[in-house]
Amino acid sequence: MNEKQRLESQQINQKSSADVKSDANDNLDRLKNMSSDELISRYFQTTYEPPNMRKAKKRLKKDVDIHYDFDIPLEMRAIGKGKKFLIRTYGCQMNEHDTEVMAGILTQMGYTPTEDTNDADIILLNTCAIRENAENKVFGELGHLKPLKLENPDLILGVCGCMSQEESVVNRILKKHPFVDLIFGTHNIHRLPQLINEAMFGKEMVVEVWSKEGDIIENLPKQRKGKIKAWVNIMYGCDKFCTYCIVPYTRGKERSRMPEDIIQEVRHLAAQGYKEITLLGQNVNAYGKDLEFEYGLGDLMEEISKIDIPRVRFTTSHPRDFDDRLIEVLAKGGNLLDHIHLPVQSGSSDILRVMARRYTRESYLELVRKIREAMPNATLTTDIIVGFPNETDEQFEETMTLVEEVGFESAYTFIYSPREGTPSARWEDNIPMEVKKERLQRLNALVNKQSAEAMKKYQGETVKVLVEGESKKDPDVLSGYTERNKLVNFKGPKSVIGEIVEVKITNTKTWTLDGEMVESAVEVK
Ligand code: SAH
Ligand code: SF4
Ligand code: F3S
Repeated sequence: MNEKQRLESQQINQKSSADVKSDANDNLDRLKNMSSDELISRYFQTTYEPPNMRKAKKRLKKDVDIHYDFDIPLEMRAIGKGKKFLIRTYGCQMNEHDTEVMAGILTQMGYTPTEDTNDADIILLNTCAIRENAENKVFGELGHLKPLKLENPDLILGVCGCMSQEESVVNRILKKHPFVDLIFGTHNIHRLPQLINEAMFGKEMVVEVWSKEGDIIENLPKQRKGKIKAWVNIMYGCDKFCTYCIVPYTRGKERSRMPEDIIQEVRHLAAQGYKEITLLGQNVNAYGKDLEFEYGLGDLMEEISKIDIPRVRFTTSHPRDFDDRLIEVLAKGGNLLDHIHLPVQSGSSDILRVMARRYTRESYLELVRKIREAMPNATLTTDIIVGFPNETDEQFEETMTLVEEVGFESAYTFIYSPREGTPSARWEDNIPMEVKKERLQRLNALVNKQSAEAMKKYQGETVKVLVEGESKKDPDVLSGYTERNKLVNFKGPKSVIGEIVEVKITNTKTWTLDGEMVESAVEVK
């Protein structure tokens, strides 16, 4: 860590290293007996400046630093020998992928994974802050883990991910869950070795949350979850500041990885035999806007389409930045799949305006028209929020008609949840819960109906399925996804796991398809 990073660090406690574990027991006892105020004054020294929403919003036009020099200090490479780690992941694909990075770092430190909390020497909760219920799950889990920690003071219990970037969450953990050993933010993942070292040998809770715009750290190790599909970050952060959303504050500003770094990663994955990659970003259509040269997602996708990997997906698209160049490149097909997840959030232009989505119902529909013109078979899916402050019945009906008009084949639907520090949290959350629930139910019924109808069209068709493994319900059945992301269950030999095979659809359900493998047509690519 250089001096600049050191100054940026908002670490609460710099720990001396030497004291060992027997102290941990005493420490825990002392913590248990402390009042909340004592705890706060103990941890919040004057050097600590908690993450600040107002500051986060003032994006500086500073260049992003890209670091290619990640390394685990020699003395920390064996710290985990004979020890086990468990990471619980909440939230979006970004978090799933961050977990793969943390697993990679821990593996390089000698740790091995476990699924059993009783077996783990380190447990990390990689958290999500997007809605209140996401946060409640984590606090619930902390409650479950408390007895384990009290029984085994050597266990390192850490909280990371988006919730750690919130001031109120850090305060709540300090006050109510003092048995937590470690809190670190989304910008501090590469510091995991040092943080574990401090948590192991120090006496105090280690808190390191950099409230910053974010750099790019390349060359982080990754322990990917499977050998068939892989996530690839193309950018980090979000600058859209939709009025309801916490992500721009928890993930920093939009910053794109260099095209060559992404292409090298994809080539490497192709060489390792991966069959599908998903390019990741909160707003992938803004890819390249912060680069010093003219280069966008369309250009990147065109390069990636030349790489010998059978399937390329991308998520999440923001309608505002979805440009003609990208449509032109996607229309060429090849390994670029025509399933587009295009969150609309609402069908009412007035609600969209107060959400600060920067498009209207009309411009969204115009974008859909252009996409369909270029890719007549494209599958469109979306995200929708119901019960936004002041949403009238009429405005909700506009969402319903938009869902029908576009013909979304599936949708993630959410009840609005005010997030502290975001602009909309200052507005009265004035739609009663019964109304929100009723709107959600009606919307879900419509989405289910459209999904079932879209599925019916596959009856008797032959589709290409990337076989991921045995079905969760029946080990004799294999399952995988079509190019348009439909889950297919079928009987077939285990030897086709990891391959793309042709399956004839014999039965359709609301969310899944059943079929029979077309024996002769195992496609290697
Ligand atoms: N970057 C993506 C979405 C990331 S969050 C995009 O812009 O589309 C995933 C989804 O969670 C959002 O699309 C939105 O539908 C939902 N969401 C975000 N904040 C929310 C809130 N405060 N209450 C309810 N749903 C929310
Ligand atoms: Fe949140 Fe909007 Fe950014 Fe999506 S685009 S992450 S909804 S602020
Ligand atoms: Fe949740 Fe953070 Fe993703 S808030 S949705 S984990 S970016």
